[in-house]
Amino acid sequence: MTERFITSTLNKRDPAREMSLRPPAFADFPGQTRVKEQLELFVRAAKARDEALDHILLCGPPGLGKTTLAYIIANERGTNLKSSSGPAIEKPGDLAGLLTALEPGDVLFIDEIHRLNTTVEEYLYSAMEDFFIDIMLEQGAGARSVRLTVPHFTLIGATTRQGMISAPLRSRFGLNIRLDYYDTDSLSKILKRSAGILGIEIDDDGAREIAGRCRGTPRIANNLLRRARDYAQVRADSVVTGRVAADALEMLQIDRDGLDEMDLRLLEVIISNFGGGPVGLKNIAVSVGEEEDSIEDVYEPFLIQKGYLVRTPKGRVATPKAWEKLGLRPLRGRDDQPELF
Ligand SMILES: Nc1ncnc2c1ncn2[C@@H]1O[C@H](COP(=O)(O)OP(=O)(O)OP(=O)(O)O)[C@@H](O)[C@H]1O
Ligand SMILES: [Mg+2]
Repeated sequence: MTERFITSTLNKRDPAREMSLRPPAFADFPGQTRVKEQLELFVRAAKARDEALDHILLCGPPGLGKTTLAYIIANERGTNLKSSSGPAIEKPGDLAGLLTALEPGDVLFIDEIHRLNTTVEEYLYSAMEDFFIDIMLEQGAGARSVRLTVPHFTLIGATTRQGMISAPLRSRFGLNIRLDYYDTDSLSKILKRSAGILGIEIDDDGAREIAGRCRGTPRIANNLLRRARDYAQVRADSVVTGRVAADALEMLQIDRDGLDEMDLRLLEVIISNFGGGPVGLKNIAVSVGEEEDSIEDVYEPFLIQKGYLVRTPKGRVATPKAWEKLGLRPLRGRDDQPELF
Protein backbone atom coordinates (compact mmCIF):
# COMPACT_ATOMS: atom_id res chain seq x y z
CA MET A 1 0.00 0.00 0.00
CA THR A 2 1.40 3.35 -0.97
CA GLU A 3 0.77 6.24 1.37
CA ARG A 4 -1.35 8.12 -1.11
CA PHE A 5 -4.12 5.56 -0.76
CA ILE A 6 -4.41 6.22 2.94
CA THR A 7 -7.78 7.95 2.86
CA SER A 8 -9.37 5.47 0.52
CA THR A 9 -8.07 2.67 2.72
CA LEU A 10 -9.25 4.28 5.90
CA ASN A 11 -12.65 4.89 4.36
CA LYS A 12 -12.96 1.44 2.87
CA ARG A 13 -16.05 -0.51 3.84
CA ASP A 14 -15.45 -3.54 6.00
CA PRO A 15 -18.98 -4.85 6.64
CA ALA A 16 -18.05 -7.62 9.07
CA ARG A 17 -16.00 -5.31 11.24
CA GLU A 18 -18.43 -2.42 11.03
CA MET A 19 -21.46 -4.42 12.09
CA SER A 20 -20.35 -4.57 15.73
CA LEU A 21 -19.84 -0.81 15.84
CA ARG A 22 -23.22 0.05 14.33
CA PRO A 23 -25.50 1.79 16.82
CA PRO A 24 -28.88 -0.01 16.89
CA ALA A 25 -31.03 3.00 17.88
CA PHE A 26 -31.23 6.76 17.37
CA ALA A 27 -30.30 7.23 21.03
CA ASP A 28 -26.88 5.61 20.46
CA PHE A 29 -26.20 7.55 17.26
CA PRO A 30 -24.33 10.79 18.07
CA GLY A 31 -24.39 13.75 15.70
CA GLN A 32 -26.63 14.60 12.71
CA THR A 33 -29.05 16.19 15.19
CA ARG A 34 -31.47 17.67 12.67
CA VAL A 35 -31.55 14.56 10.52
CA LYS A 36 -32.15 12.39 13.56
CA GLU A 37 -34.93 14.63 14.81
CA GLN A 38 -36.64 14.53 11.43
CA LEU A 39 -36.33 10.75 11.09
CA GLU A 40 -37.43 10.04 14.65
CA LEU A 41 -40.56 12.09 14.18
CA PHE A 42 -41.25 10.47 10.84
CA VAL A 43 -40.89 6.96 12.29
CA ARG A 44 -42.98 7.77 15.34
CA ALA A 45 -45.82 9.22 13.24
CA ALA A 46 -45.91 6.21 10.91
CA LYS A 47 -45.88 3.91 13.88
CA ALA A 48 -48.77 5.72 15.55
CA ARG A 49 -50.83 5.45 12.35
CA ASP A 50 -49.65 1.88 11.85
CA GLU A 51 -48.60 2.68 8.31
CA ALA A 52 -45.51 1.81 6.30
CA LEU A 53 -42.97 4.62 6.26
CA ASP A 54 -42.76 6.73 3.16
CA HIS A 55 -39.69 6.14 0.96
CA ILE A 56 -36.47 7.74 2.17
CA LEU A 57 -33.37 8.81 0.22
CA LEU A 58 -30.13 9.12 2.23
CA CYS A 59 -27.32 11.08 0.57
CA GLY A 60 -23.81 11.97 1.64
CA PRO A 61 -20.12 11.10 1.38
CA PRO A 62 -18.91 7.58 2.29
CA GLY A 63 -18.68 6.53 5.92
CA LEU A 64 -21.10 9.04 7.44
CA GLY A 65 -23.74 6.54 8.52
CA LYS A 66 -26.25 6.03 5.67
CA THR A 67 -26.35 2.24 6.01
CA THR A 68 -26.35 2.55 9.80
CA LEU A 69 -29.35 4.88 9.69
CA ALA A 70 -31.27 2.57 7.36
CA TYR A 71 -30.89 -0.24 9.90
CA ILE A 72 -31.85 2.08 12.76
CA ILE A 73 -34.98 3.23 10.93
CA ALA A 74 -36.12 -0.36 10.33
CA ASN A 75 -35.24 -1.27 13.90
CA GLU A 76 -37.14 1.62 15.43
CA ARG A 77 -40.12 1.02 13.18
CA GLY A 78 -40.01 -2.64 14.19
CA THR A 79 -39.76 -4.09 10.67
CA ASN A 80 -37.39 -6.29 8.72
CA LEU A 81 -34.76 -4.86 6.42
CA LYS A 82 -33.75 -6.54 3.19
CA SER A 83 -30.58 -5.19 1.67
CA SER A 84 -29.41 -4.98 -1.93
CA SER A 85 -27.49 -2.55 -4.08
CA GLY A 86 -27.85 -0.75 -7.40
CA PRO A 87 -25.31 -2.82 -9.35
CA ALA A 88 -26.64 -6.12 -7.91
CA ILE A 89 -30.13 -5.61 -9.36
CA GLU A 90 -29.32 -6.28 -12.99
CA LYS A 91 -32.70 -7.16 -14.50
CA PRO A 92 -36.35 -6.32 -13.79
CA GLY A 93 -36.74 -9.95 -12.71
CA ASP A 94 -34.16 -9.41 -9.92
CA LEU A 95 -36.18 -6.48 -8.67
CA ALA A 96 -39.43 -8.46 -8.88
CA GLY A 97 -37.82 -11.22 -6.82
CA LEU A 98 -36.74 -8.79 -4.12
CA LEU A 99 -40.09 -7.00 -3.96
CA THR A 100 -42.33 -10.04 -3.88
CA ALA A 101 -40.32 -11.52 -1.00
CA LEU A 102 -41.14 -8.53 1.23
CA GLU A 103 -43.73 -8.51 4.00
CA PRO A 104 -46.01 -5.48 4.32
CA GLY A 105 -44.15 -2.62 6.03
CA ASP A 106 -40.68 -4.09 5.38
CA VAL A 107 -37.77 -1.89 4.44
CA LEU A 108 -35.98 -2.55 1.17
CA PHE A 109 -32.56 -0.93 1.38
CA ILE A 110 -30.88 -0.23 -1.95
CA ASP A 111 -27.33 0.96 -1.50
CA GLU A 112 -25.59 2.90 -4.29
CA ILE A 113 -29.01 3.51 -5.80
CA HIS A 114 -27.47 5.88 -8.35
CA ARG A 115 -25.99 2.82 -10.03
CA LEU A 116 -29.33 1.17 -10.86
CA ASN A 117 -29.69 0.71 -14.59
CA THR A 118 -32.43 2.73 -16.26
CA THR A 119 -34.67 -0.24 -17.14
CA VAL A 120 -34.75 -1.46 -13.55
CA GLU A 121 -35.21 2.11 -12.35
CA GLU A 122 -38.32 2.50 -14.47
CA TYR A 123 -39.82 -0.66 -13.01
CA LEU A 124 -39.11 0.68 -9.58
CA TYR A 125 -41.28 3.77 -10.21
CA SER A 126 -44.58 1.89 -10.30
CA ALA A 127 -43.50 -0.27 -7.36
CA MET A 128 -42.75 2.81 -5.26
CA GLU A 129 -45.83 4.72 -6.28
CA ASP A 130 -48.60 2.21 -6.82
CA PHE A 131 -47.12 -1.01 -5.42
CA PHE A 132 -47.21 -3.09 -8.57
CA ILE A 133 -44.87 -3.98 -11.39
CA ASP A 134 -45.74 -5.09 -14.90
CA ILE A 135 -43.27 -7.74 -15.98
CA MET A 136 -42.94 -8.52 -19.70
CA LEU A 137 -43.06 -12.25 -20.26
CA GLU A 138 -42.09 -12.63 -23.89
CA GLN A 139 -40.36 -10.54 -26.49
CA GLY A 140 -41.63 -9.47 -29.93
CA ALA A 141 -45.09 -10.36 -31.31
CA GLY A 142 -46.04 -12.69 -28.47
CA ALA A 143 -45.10 -10.14 -25.83
CA ARG A 144 -47.45 -9.90 -22.89
CA SER A 145 -47.07 -8.64 -19.39
CA VAL A 146 -48.26 -9.80 -16.02
CA ARG A 147 -48.98 -7.45 -13.19
CA LEU A 148 -47.41 -8.39 -9.87
CA THR A 149 -48.70 -6.60 -6.82
CA VAL A 150 -46.11 -5.91 -4.15
CA PRO A 151 -46.75 -5.30 -0.46
CA HIS A 152 -46.65 -1.76 0.89
CA PHE A 153 -42.95 -1.53 1.54
CA THR A 154 -40.55 1.30 2.35
CA LEU A 155 -37.66 1.92 0.03
CA ILE A 156 -34.57 3.39 1.64
CA GLY A 157 -32.07 4.39 -1.02
CA ALA A 158 -28.51 5.41 -0.20
CA THR A 159 -26.15 7.31 -2.46
CA THR A 160 -22.86 9.16 -2.35
CA ARG A 161 -23.91 10.98 -5.53
CA GLN A 162 -27.08 12.97 -5.14
CA GLY A 163 -26.44 14.59 -8.53
CA MET A 164 -26.66 11.24 -10.29
CA ILE A 165 -30.19 10.46 -9.08
CA SER A 166 -32.67 11.15 -11.89
CA ALA A 167 -35.44 13.66 -11.22
CA PRO A 168 -38.26 11.07 -11.59
CA LEU A 169 -36.61 8.79 -9.03
CA ARG A 170 -35.84 11.60 -6.64
CA SER A 171 -39.41 12.87 -6.76
CA ARG A 172 -40.75 9.50 -5.60
CA PHE A 173 -39.02 9.73 -2.22
CA GLY A 174 -41.12 11.31 0.52
CA LEU A 175 -38.04 12.29 2.48
CA ASN A 176 -34.70 13.37 1.09
CA ILE A 177 -32.03 13.36 3.78
CA ARG A 178 -28.54 14.77 3.42
CA LEU A 179 -25.82 13.77 5.87
CA ASP A 180 -22.99 16.13 6.62
CA TYR A 181 -19.53 15.76 8.09
CA TYR A 182 -19.57 15.40 11.90
CA ASP A 183 -18.35 17.91 14.46
CA THR A 184 -15.56 17.06 16.87
CA ASP A 185 -17.85 16.54 19.89
CA SER A 186 -20.01 13.98 18.11
CA LEU A 187 -16.92 12.19 16.80
CA SER A 188 -15.42 12.07 20.30
CA LYS A 189 -18.60 10.41 21.53
CA ILE A 190 -18.53 7.92 18.65
CA LEU A 191 -14.88 7.13 19.38
CA LYS A 192 -15.51 6.53 23.07
CA ARG A 193 -18.45 4.28 22.31
CA SER A 194 -16.40 2.30 19.78
CA ALA A 195 -13.45 2.10 22.19
CA GLY A 196 -15.81 0.66 24.81
CA ILE A 197 -17.06 -2.01 22.40
CA LEU A 198 -13.55 -2.90 21.20
CA GLY A 199 -12.03 -2.84 24.69
CA ILE A 200 -9.65 0.02 23.87
CA GLU A 201 -8.55 2.42 26.59
CA ILE A 202 -8.75 6.01 25.38
CA ASP A 203 -8.82 9.27 27.31
CA ASP A 204 -10.57 12.56 26.46
CA ASP A 205 -7.50 14.06 24.79
CA GLY A 206 -6.94 10.93 22.72
CA ALA A 207 -10.54 10.95 21.49
CA ARG A 208 -10.37 14.67 20.74
CA GLU A 209 -7.13 14.32 18.79
CA ILE A 210 -8.55 11.61 16.51
CA ALA A 211 -11.91 13.38 16.25
CA GLY A 212 -10.22 16.50 14.90
CA ARG A 213 -8.25 14.64 12.26
CA CYS A 214 -10.63 12.09 10.74
CA ARG A 215 -12.23 14.19 8.00
CA GLY A 216 -15.43 14.47 10.03
CA THR A 217 -16.13 10.83 9.15
CA PRO A 218 -17.09 8.15 11.72
CA ARG A 219 -15.73 5.30 9.59
CA ILE A 220 -12.31 6.96 9.40
CA ALA A 221 -12.49 7.77 13.13
CA ASN A 222 -13.09 4.10 13.97
CA ASN A 223 -10.29 2.96 11.69
CA LEU A 224 -7.85 5.50 13.12
CA LEU A 225 -8.83 4.33 16.58
CA ARG A 226 -7.68 0.82 15.72
CA ARG A 227 -4.41 2.13 14.32
CA ALA A 228 -3.86 4.27 17.42
CA ARG A 229 -4.50 1.23 19.59
CA ASP A 230 -1.80 -0.71 17.72
CA TYR A 231 0.57 2.19 18.20
CA ALA A 232 -0.29 2.46 21.91
CA GLN A 233 0.27 -1.23 22.41
CA VAL A 234 3.72 -1.25 20.86
CA ARG A 235 5.08 2.19 21.74
CA ALA A 236 3.17 3.21 24.88
CA ASP A 237 1.35 1.49 27.75
CA SER A 238 -1.74 0.60 25.66
CA VAL A 239 -3.68 3.74 26.55
CA VAL A 240 -4.59 6.05 23.66
CA THR A 241 -3.76 9.46 25.11
CA GLY A 242 -3.59 12.74 23.18
CA ARG A 243 0.15 12.33 22.72
CA VAL A 244 -0.11 8.73 21.55
CA ALA A 245 -2.92 9.58 19.11
CA ALA A 246 -0.95 12.54 17.72
CA ASP A 247 2.17 10.40 17.21
CA ALA A 248 0.16 7.62 15.56
CA LEU A 249 -1.52 10.07 13.19
CA GLU A 250 1.79 11.63 12.33
CA MET A 251 3.13 8.22 11.47
CA LEU A 252 0.14 7.79 9.13
CA GLN A 253 1.03 11.14 7.54
CA ILE A 254 -2.25 12.78 8.48
CA ASP A 255 -1.67 16.46 9.15
CA ARG A 256 -3.08 18.64 11.93
CA ASP A 257 -6.17 19.53 9.90
CA GLY A 258 -6.85 15.93 8.98
CA LEU A 259 -5.52 16.21 5.43
CA ASP A 260 -3.57 13.22 4.20
CA GLU A 261 -0.94 12.93 1.53
CA MET A 262 -3.45 12.52 -1.28
CA ASP A 263 -5.35 15.67 -0.27
CA LEU A 264 -2.13 17.63 -0.27
CA ARG A 265 -1.10 16.17 -3.61
CA LEU A 266 -4.40 17.19 -5.15
CA LEU A 267 -3.97 20.75 -3.97
CA GLU A 268 -0.37 20.77 -5.07
CA VAL A 269 -1.20 19.55 -8.57
CA ILE A 270 -3.93 22.16 -9.02
CA ILE A 271 -1.58 24.89 -7.86
CA SER A 272 1.75 23.83 -9.38
CA ASN A 273 0.57 22.29 -12.64
CA PHE A 274 -2.48 24.41 -13.35
CA GLY A 275 -1.70 27.73 -11.67
CA GLY A 276 -4.42 27.20 -9.08
CA GLY A 277 -7.13 26.38 -11.63
CA PRO A 278 -9.74 26.36 -12.96
CA VAL A 279 -8.93 22.82 -14.04
CA GLY A 280 -11.20 19.93 -15.02
CA LEU A 281 -11.57 16.76 -12.96
CA LYS A 282 -10.14 14.59 -15.73
CA ASN A 283 -6.86 16.52 -15.79
CA ILE A 284 -6.57 16.37 -12.03
CA ALA A 285 -7.24 12.62 -12.01
CA VAL A 286 -4.59 11.93 -14.64
CA SER A 287 -2.05 14.11 -12.85
CA VAL A 288 -2.43 12.43 -9.47
CA GLY A 289 -3.05 8.94 -10.84
CA GLU A 290 -6.34 8.43 -9.01
CA GLU A 291 -9.83 7.51 -10.27
CA GLU A 292 -12.13 10.41 -11.08
CA ASP A 293 -14.89 8.78 -9.03
CA SER A 294 -12.83 8.49 -5.93
CA ILE A 295 -11.63 12.08 -6.22
CA GLU A 296 -15.22 13.23 -6.58
CA ASP A 297 -16.69 11.00 -3.86
CA VAL A 298 -14.00 10.92 -1.23
CA TYR A 299 -11.49 13.72 -1.49
CA GLU A 300 -13.23 16.66 -3.06
CA PRO A 301 -16.30 17.02 -0.80
CA PHE A 302 -14.06 17.36 2.25
CA LEU A 303 -11.66 19.80 0.60
CA ILE A 304 -14.61 21.88 -0.57
CA GLN A 305 -16.29 21.82 2.82
CA LYS A 306 -13.07 22.91 4.53
CA GLY A 307 -12.61 25.75 2.05
CA TYR A 308 -9.51 24.53 0.20
CA LEU A 309 -11.24 24.04 -3.10
CA VAL A 310 -14.20 25.48 -5.00
CA ARG A 311 -16.08 24.18 -7.99
CA THR A 312 -16.74 26.69 -10.74
CA PRO A 313 -18.38 26.16 -14.14
CA LYS A 314 -14.86 26.19 -15.65
CA GLY A 315 -13.40 23.63 -13.26
CA ARG A 316 -11.84 23.27 -9.82
CA VAL A 317 -10.04 26.23 -8.28
CA ALA A 318 -7.68 26.16 -5.28
CA THR A 319 -8.59 28.85 -2.74
CA PRO A 320 -6.07 31.11 -0.99
CA LYS A 321 -6.38 28.78 2.01
CA ALA A 322 -5.00 25.97 -0.15
CA TRP A 323 -2.03 28.08 -1.26
CA GLU A 324 -1.32 28.96 2.34
CA LYS A 325 -1.61 25.33 3.39
CA LEU A 326 1.27 24.55 1.02
CA GLY A 327 3.23 27.52 2.30
CA LEU A 328 2.66 29.57 -0.86
CA ARG A 329 1.30 33.04 -1.51
CA PRO A 330 -1.84 33.05 -3.65
CA LEU A 331 -1.61 34.68 -7.08
CA ARG A 332 -3.65 37.84 -7.12
CA GLY A 333 -5.68 39.68 -9.75
CA ARG A 334 -6.18 36.84 -12.19
CA ASP A 335 -8.86 37.55 -14.77
CA ASP A 336 -10.57 34.20 -14.50
CA GLN A 337 -10.82 34.18 -10.70
CA PRO A 338 -12.06 37.64 -9.82
CA GLU A 339 -14.38 36.32 -7.13
CA LEU A 340 -11.56 34.76 -5.19
CA PHE A 341 -8.61 37.07 -5.22
N1 LIG B 1 -23.41 8.58 14.06
C1 LIG B 1 -22.70 7.46 14.21
N2 LIG B 1 -22.48 6.95 15.42
C2 LIG B 1 -21.72 5.85 15.59
N3 LIG B 1 -21.13 5.18 14.59
C3 LIG B 1 -21.34 5.64 13.35
C4 LIG B 1 -22.13 6.78 13.09
N4 LIG B 1 -22.15 7.00 11.76
C5 LIG B 1 -21.41 6.02 11.22
N5 LIG B 1 -20.91 5.20 12.17
C6 LIG B 1 -20.02 4.06 11.97
O1 LIG B 1 -19.18 4.31 10.86
C7 LIG B 1 -19.09 3.17 10.01
C8 LIG B 1 -19.57 3.54 8.63
O2 LIG B 1 -20.94 3.85 8.65
P1 LIG B 1 -21.92 3.42 7.44
O3 LIG B 1 -21.51 2.11 6.89
O4 LIG B 1 -23.32 3.53 7.94
O5 LIG B 1 -21.61 4.58 6.40
P2 LIG B 1 -22.22 4.82 4.95
O6 LIG B 1 -22.66 6.24 4.90
O7 LIG B 1 -23.24 3.78 4.66
O8 LIG B 1 -20.96 4.64 3.99
P3 LIG B 1 -20.89 4.16 2.45
O9 LIG B 1 -21.29 5.32 1.61
O10 LIG B 1 -19.44 3.79 2.22
O11 LIG B 1 -21.81 2.98 2.32
C9 LIG B 1 -19.92 2.08 10.70
O12 LIG B 1 -19.07 1.25 11.47
C10 LIG B 1 -20.84 2.83 11.59
O13 LIG B 1 -21.19 2.12 12.72
MG1 LIG C 1 -23.30 2.25 3.29
